[in-house]
Amino acid sequence: MAGCFFKDFETEVEKLEVATRFFQELEALSGGMESDMHIENPVKTSTGVAIGTLMAAQCVKDYIRTFKFVQGVNQAIKKARSKFPGQTIRIIYAGTGPFATLALPSMFEFSGEDVKWTLLEINEETFQTLKHTIQSLGLEDRVERFVRCNAVQFKPDDSTFFHILLSETMQHALVREQQVSITSHLSRFLHPEGFFLPQEVKVEVALFNPAKRFKQLQGQNVEKDLPSYSNIKGTALAWNRQMADAVSRGDSFPVFPFSFEKGNADYTQLILQTTIHIFENHFLYPWESGLTTPLILDQWNNSKNKELKSYCIQYQVSENPGFNFTKK
Ligand SMILES: C[S@@+](CC[C@H](N)C(=O)[O-])C[C@H]1O[C@@H](n2cnc3c(N)ncnc32)[C@H](O)[C@@H]1O
Repeated sequence: MAGCFFKDFETEVEKLEVATRFFQELEALSGGMESDMHIENPVKTSTGVAIGTLMAAQCVKDYIRTFKFVQGVNQAIKKARSKFPGQTIRIIYAGTGPFATLALPSMFEFSGEDVKWTLLEINEETFQTLKHTIQSLGLEDRVERFVRCNAVQFKPDDSTFFHILLSETMQHALVREQQVSITSHLSRFLHPEGFFLPQEVKVEVALFNPAKRFKQLQGQNVEKDLPSYSNIKGTALAWNRQMADAVSRGDSFPVFPFSFEKGNADYTQLILQTTIHIFENHFLYPWESGLTTPLILDQWNNSKNKELKSYCIQYQVSENPGFNFTKK
């Protein structure tokens, strides 16, 4: 089943079926958590929330996300093996969820001698299910360490670098969850030439016309249609290794000031649009996943708003991380 993520499919429905079956098999292995609907156990921390066991499991069903991440991770492993020949590739995966979803298909492909995973998970119930999943599938030899911890405070046992850092602990526009804090902390344990996955999460400020988008959605390719319903004003944050290292050294998040005028009368919403560059040619584009659905910042009636408006936006880490947004 896990190998299906690397096949070519003719239709999106086939991919959805694969992701759904993958979820059902893992869910059955876990003892039927979906019927136990009270597994609503998020963990709150000073740098954001960690979603509960059931929600983390259900991320599998965000199937375009799952396919693209699984394939990107697999490609990064292959690249790391050719870049660091003769070495066991060490991967740190922070925020595994109950099924280590983004790792499992590659765990079946690469032996424990080729690739070793350090798996971090904060939520006790999720962590227990994770261990049970890996053991039931006979994949324990792929795991270097299972660590139940807050990844923002994790310290490795020794000073050997990891070759790949992987985390998908985010929502759209990097709000609420802890992707930024986790990856800025863990980046120091990544080999200087190692791979930071996703390579970049780009959050752009855009003007948006929802009516146009709705029309264009009727059977057309979203990437090709993008310019006509959204007008990008600029990048509010490009979260990549360089930025993560700067923030962990104490730099502030960039401030993005911008304004717009009457000329933009076609648009009625100000949005944050997310694009995730997972690895090399693997991108998760706006609208493809819950992670890349636009976040509405402001809306207006364009016939009444003729004057120039100025905005200022900056990311901030707190117990509810996200963009701090002011308007004049
Ligand atoms: C969005 S789910 C994704 C699960 C899985 N990686 C996937 O892609 O399907 C994020 C997972 O990260 C865990 N998590 C969030 N913040 C964490 C932290 N600070 N330390 C360790 N785990 C964390 C959550 O408990 C949750 O299981």
